[in-house]
Amino acid sequence: MFSTPYSPHVGHGEYADVYDPAEDTFLLMDALEKDVKEIRRLCCTDINSLAANCTLESARQNGVNIQPIITDLVTGLFPRLQNQVDVLIFNPPYVVTPTEEVGSRGIKASWAGGERGREVMDRFFPQVSSLLSSRGVFYLITVQENDPDGIIGLLNTFNLKGTVFISRQAGRERLSVLKFWKA
Ligand SMILES: C[S@@+](CC[C@H](N)C(=O)[O-])C[C@H]1O[C@@H](n2cnc3c(N)ncnc32)[C@H](O)[C@@H]1O
Repeated sequence: MFSTPYSPHVGHGEYADVYDPAEDTFLLMDALEKDVKEIRRLCCTDINSLAANCTLESARQNGVNIQPIITDLVTGLFPRLQNQVDVLIFNPPYVVTPTEEVGSRGIKASWAGGERGREVMDRFFPQVSSLLSSRGVFYLITVQENDPDGIIGLLNTFNLKGTVFISRQAGRERLSVLKFWKA
């Protein structure tokens, strides 16, 4: 097991508008433990520049080397990382909200998922297969309202096999980590 990263700065002070690690974050970490040995080169993106700064500070405090990229989804990663990613992780804004709330670059981007909570992740799905290496895996956090089985069916059409890897009830949310790999 890896230990919980040190993160008292997240969600406070200059990082008040950054998502504070919560049950979804920790469920994703549980799922990742199995693949942690595969994770050698780290890269991350965020639309919220404060979140990117906060990631730098978290990395410094936990002795990790990472360069966050401020971009929409993975736009800044192509073509350099095409077919290069062994472990791809997305904890998206998954909460069902009015569509008008989607598209923020601040704290609202942490949760506002629009219709069925799917508006941001649905834009990402067509890009997954072209990022993954031949043995790559993709982990995605969902809640029940996102229709996890429907997502597995949809990604099948992009040549990815998938399964519900781990689930947990967290208050009113039924959280699941879905795992995908190239068919
Ligand atoms: C649920 S939070 C997860 C934060 C953190 N990764 C974790 O697991 O605790 C969702 C994150 O996705 C970012 N985000 C939302 N829309 C995005 C987009 N279009 N491109 C890149 N990042 C986005 C948010 O700013 C926020 O930091």
